[in-house]
Amino acid sequence: MRMRTLAIGIAAAALAAGLGLFGATRWSDANTGAHPRAGSADPATIARGAYLARLGDCAACHSVAGQPPFAGGLRMETPIGAIYTSNITPDRRHGIGNYTLADFDRALRYGVANGHTLYPAMPYSSYARTTPEDVAALYAYFMHAVEPAAVPERPNEIPWPLSMRWPLTVWRWAFAPEPAPFSFAGDPVLRRGAYIVEGLGHCGDCHTPRGPGLQVRAFGPQDGPAYLSGAIIDGWHAPSLRNGDRTTIGAWSEEQIAEFLRTGSNAHGMAFASMNEVVANSTQYLNPADATAVARYLKSVGDAGTVQGKYAYDPATSRALRSGDAGARGAMLYLDNCAACHRPDGKGYEGVFPALAGNPAVAAAPPDSVIRIVLEGMQTARTQATPAQFTMPAFAGRLSDAEVADVATFVRGSWGNRAPAVEARDVARLRR
Ligand code: HEC
Ligand code: HEC
Ligand code: HEC
Repeated sequence: MRMRTLAIGIAAAALAAGLGLFGATRWSDANTGAHPRAGSADPATIARGAYLARLGDCAACHSVAGQPPFAGGLRMETPIGAIYTSNITPDRRHGIGNYTLADFDRALRYGVANGHTLYPAMPYSSYARTTPEDVAALYAYFMHAVEPAAVPERPNEIPWPLSMRWPLTVWRWAFAPEPAPFSFAGDPVLRRGAYIVEGLGHCGDCHTPRGPGLQVRAFGPQDGPAYLSGAIIDGWHAPSLRNGDRTTIGAWSEEQIAEFLRTGSNAHGMAFASMNEVVANSTQYLNPADATAVARYLKSVGDAGTVQGKYAYDPATSRALRSGDAGARGAMLYLDNCAACHRPDGKGYEGVFPALAGNPAVAAAPPDSVIRIVLEGMQTARTQATPAQFTMPAFAGRLSDAEVADVATFVRGSWGNRAPAVEARDVARLRR
């Protein structure tokens, strides 16, 4: 999250030249005309706005440790320089205190503020799905329940002429979906799940691959099989959330997905990397009905079991290790370094040490996450439901590139996992 990389300026300028998009108009004031009146601030609306701000994970980017909530200032790297997130407290001088509801809506759904286009690091393309009622509730929350903070915004560090914002406008015309009333026919629970996942939850900003302009390639199942099919984000693999792959949540039940979102772990794995923050700031607050809706919707995206068949536990590895056969590549390293916590049967201890058997983080085709976890170690997410934290030690100082490759190959090919082998050069690439 902190280092999300977006080649927007350059890519968009190139696109502008190539596509001749000047003159197109995709946003106008008329689109925001039908809103409920600004300034309605009854406690129920404010409370709903607070909940929606959690769903949208506004704090992830607009709150920084040591600063008042939503005062902005988070540094985000782009290939053309660093940008800083905005102060979105109702401070009149430094924040959004002078925003009307229409201004707020324009920033949130259309990516336009103070007359210029925002960097798409602000996930307005996903937020475009938000209903006018929910935009109004968010506005009520930010205007009436967030403390104004007189924290000046930090200027972006992008040199002229790359700092010019017009290419962003072209980018927006080319890639951002036009905000339109959210439409989803059918089951109300699936509808609610789609609304959260495709909209405020902006799950696809990390879980859907990006195209050549670094735009998110699909915003919903209607855009084809790229949607939520997995992506590398900040050097981590955000796995496919489609139901069809045996290495991902295809093997998870609806209850297990909901449990993961609300607690950061389940029998199959634990949250890490930026998903850790997503759970801590956002999904742990999903109410039970919404967690179920998200889970059911995810189970509906992609065709179950058609890709590679479901994961099935294979006891052969465990049997071999227990009978003293450590001849498989990396098996000895596993016994020496990993088995104390993750156990020879690869099933770990639920809620403490995650299972590696059938774990998508281990068995997904791209090896990036498992290599980085072994090199860097990590900590479990802290949520209301799971206040204790457990630590996975870092092995960068203890294992060579070849050894990390061997042990990663072992866990990726054992207990029914069937991911390709890892080579030392893959490890060298990710070691810092
Ligand atoms: C992934 C990071 C990220 C998330 C999540 C995010 N924002 Fe932003 N937001 C940004 C960045 C970066 C900017 C500044 C972009 C720029 O300067 O062009 C911004 C700008 C804004 C602005 C414009 C303020 C101004 O006057 O410059 C508003 C309003 C805003 N965000 C509201 C929200 C709300 C409400 C949410 C949650 C629903 C949210 N943001 C979630 C990154 C994020
Ligand atoms: C800021 C980037 C980011 C956002 C936004 C994000 N995720 Fe993730 N997610 C990740 C990363 C990275 C991983 C891999 C680490 C892990 O498994 O915890 C992941 C893993 C997961 C997993 C575990 C999948 C598996 O197969 O192991 C689930 C389920 C998940 N995300 C659901 C969601 C949902 C639902 C949303 C939207 C509400 C969402 N994510 C939003 C980055 C993100
Ligand atoms: C001292 C106990 C301990 C040892 C030893 C250990 N781990 Fe871990 N491991 C953990 C904990 C705790 C986590 C969960 C951290 C988290 O999710 O943030 C974890 C997480 C993981 C994960 C991510 C799974 C997920 O779903 O989050 C992988 C992969 C992993 N370990 C592999 C290994 C390998 C390979 C070794 C040996 C080289 C190893 N571990 C040694 C405790 C350990």
